[in-house]
Order: sequence, then structure tokens, then C-alpha cells
Amino acid sequence: MKLDFVYISDIGKHLGHEVTLKGWLYNKRSSGKIHFLQIRDGSGVIQGVMVKNEVDAKTFELGDKVSQESSIIVKGMVKEDKRSPSGYELGVSDLRIVQLSQDYPITPKEHGPAFLMEHRHLWMRSSKQHAALRIRDTIEQAIHGYLHKEGFIHTPAPILTPTSCEGTTTLFETDYFGEPAFLSQSGQMYIEATAAAFGKVYTFTPAFRAEKSKTRRHLTELWMMDAEASYFEHAENMQCQEGMICAIMEKVLNECQNELKTLERDTAPLEKIKAPFPVISYKEAVELCNKAGVPIQYGEDFGAPHDTAIAGSFDQPVFVDRFPTAIKSFYMQPDPEDPTVVLGSDLYAPEGYGEIIGGSQRIHDLDLLLKKMEEHKVPYEPYKWYVDLRRYGSVPHSGFGIGIERTVSWICGLQHIREAIPFARMLEKIYP
Ligand code: 4AD
Ligand code: MG
Repeated sequence: MKLDFVYISDIGKHLGHEVTLKGWLYNKRSSGKIHFLQIRDGSGVIQGVMVKNEVDAKTFELGDKVSQESSIIVKGMVKEDKRSPSGYELGVSDLRIVQLSQDYPITPKEHGPAFLMEHRHLWMRSSKQHAALRIRDTIEQAIHGYLHKEGFIHTPAPILTPTSCEGTTTLFETDYFGEPAFLSQSGQMYIEATAAAFGKVYTFTPAFRAEKSKTRRHLTELWMMDAEASYFEHAENMQCQEGMICAIMEKVLNECQNELKTLERDTAPLEKIKAPFPVISYKEAVELCNKAGVPIQYGEDFGAPHDTAIAGSFDQPVFVDRFPTAIKSFYMQPDPEDPTVVLGSDLYAPEGYGEIIGGSQRIHDLDLLLKKMEEHKVPYEPYKWYVDLRRYGSVPHSGFGIGIERTVSWICGLQHIREAIPFARMLEKIYP
């Protein structure tokens, strides 16, 4: 595409030439004779230098007047500048103000998180927020890339559904022409169907959880990538998760060094990430927690302090495997060697970022699935289609779901999950 302006990310290609940039004023410093304009255009930031006796008086006056976050069009000569992060600066010859921004509420001084979240629509322009969301994009691309390389195809799952996937306690209900419908908690069940049609599939969808807890790790609307593969058993499923995490890490480390620097993320722990990841059983994880002084009984589910104790014992992501049947979903395949546990695992990120992936082999035997549905009081009629998959060419199959925001939080080293998505939805938080 031919444009009459260039992007800051491409500025190096124009060294020694005059270019036009279209963007916003990020920040400004002025002495009587020079304006230093920090110009951002979404693709990057560059310093523009406007010298009084090199431009006409009117232009220099505009340099006085232009304020933080005004939209601007700037012309200038691309020069090398070894000290600047981009390696370049712009010798400004012309400035036009598209719209003069007044009293921009986010100033370089410190603001509290409540204020910043109220202004999320503007806050995302700030360098750290911007960097985290760019890394998010790279993570998403890495996931699509890895799965396509492995032969998976994207088959979207619906958001409006007649049933629940992950239990009824966190369901958002809505009205569907007089009938109750629910916002999807995970695309898993639908892609079990597409997996029987296409072999290896995935869906990249919002997932909704009416979580009543206020934590650093919970959203009510998150993005999940669910993958499912026919004829994959539990071990192959884990291998796929491991391969995907390594592919994400490689792409982010290759392509996002500037963003990681902006975030002041120590990349040493990320560079260490390497397959194979350690695997411990649920039972071993319980013992580990008790030894670490975070008490838990066998058969209880882990909470945040347990997650931290488990993950804190490893410098790689760690699989916790073979959870008790009683605390996991009805569709998980019991371990043939010990049916009191399932062939299901959670993957915990290092450095205390909690569970990022949940996955399992699914029950493929018709009678066993019906029995488990009865035990878990899952009604037959609304799930008839799901049961059908066990009637017509059922095969062992497995899959997993990765929480995108948890993964972004970990890789970016974010304090809170709200910064891993443009507009976080949390308990008591739906504005803007
Ligand atoms: O472990 P979960 O509940 O697994 C499932 O939904 C399966 N149906 C996935 C599958 O097998 N296809 O959710 C998967 C991941 C979690 O590991 C976590 O990373 C993320 O989704 N997640 C959340 N992230 C932020 N806020 C929440 N409230 C989350 N709930 C789950
Ligand atoms: Mg889980």
C-alpha cells in the first residue's frame, strides 16, 4: 500500500531523507530556542528536534502551543542518533496540529490504579501499557503460527451457548429470545466436534467467568485459545502445550526486546525456558505445598498461595498432573491405572503467575461418559449432541485451553492481569 507518510517503525529505511509522520505528541521539552518533541504513531516513538532559526516563526509558535496527546503531522529529516532507543531522530521542518488536546488527564506524574483504569481508553497510549499490548499481539501470532505449523486449523466456537462447559457456578446468563442462554466459558466442547471433522483444531475466543473473587489473576471476560486433537492422548497433549509455550517464548524474545526493556522485564528467567518441562503429580504437589508451609489436604483444589508454592519450586513452567477425579470436570478421562485420578494437567507459569493452561484427555467411551454425567448431575438433553460424538466414530482425543491474559502477565512481568488486555472486565468493573 502506498501512503503519503511513513511509520516510525520503518524510519531507518529513510535515513538522510525528509519524511512525513502522522501521530500524536507523547511529551515535550522546550528551551527558548529548541523544542524537543516526543512523537508517537503507534508503531514507535521518536524525538523530533525543532530549532528556532531553522523553521519559520509560525511553525515555532505551534511548537510552543502543541500539548500532550495532540494529534500532529510532522515533516522532517531522518538523522542517526546513537543515544535514542530507536537509533534515530527527526530534524523537524514543519508541524501541523490536527487536533489540539487540552488538559490530558494522564500526566507524567504518578497516578493510582483506580484513576488509570477509569481512563483506560487513554492509559493504553502510555509506553508500558502499549508495550504489554504489543507483546500480547506477538504472543497471539506465535500461537496461531505454532498451531498452523503443527497442522491445526482454526474452527471458531460460539459465544452464546445453551449449556455450561466448566460448571454452573461461574456462568453468565442472558436471554435468548425468551430462553436462557449462557456466555461461553470455553470453546472446548464445540471443538471436540470440529476435531472429529478436521483432526486437529483450535478456537481463539473470549471466555466468560462470573468470578466473584477480586484477585490479580481473575477476569470475568478473558481470551482463551482452546486446541483439540483427535487421536492425541494425554502425553501428546502435554507435548503440544510445551511446544507452544517454547514457540511463544522464542518469538517474543526475538521480536519484542524493546517492549521488554520498556517494561523493565528481567528476561533472564524467560531465556531459560526450555522443553521438557517438569511434571509432578497432584499428590506430589500437595506434599510440596505442605512442606513449603502452605497446608492443603489431598482432594482439595489449589488456591493462589498453593499455585505460588508449586510454581516457585521450579524455574520452568511445571505440569501438575493426575488430579483427583472428584475436583475436575466430568469429561476428563480417568487414568486406567488409577481411576480415582484423571488424565488431566494444569500448567503453572514460573515466578508466581499461576495456572496458565488447563488440559486433559477426554472420555471417549459412550457408557463411561453417560455414567460420569449422571454422577456430576449433568443433564442429558442439552448435551445430546456432545454425547453423539461418542456414538459416531468416537476416538481417544485430548485438548487444552490457554488463558491469554495470564500468559501475557507472566511474559511481561505484570503486577495485575488488568494490564494484559485493552479493556479488562472484572468484578465491579465494566467502565469504560
Ligand atoms: O482451566 P480452565 O478452566 O480450562 C478450561 O476451560 C478447559 N475447557 C480448557 C480446555 O481443555 N480446552 O481454563 C483454561 C485457562 C486457565 O488455565 C487460565 O489460564 C485461564 O484459562 N482462565 C482465566 N484467566 C483469567 N481469568 C479467569 N477468570 C480465568 N479462568 C480461566
Ligand atoms: Mg483450570
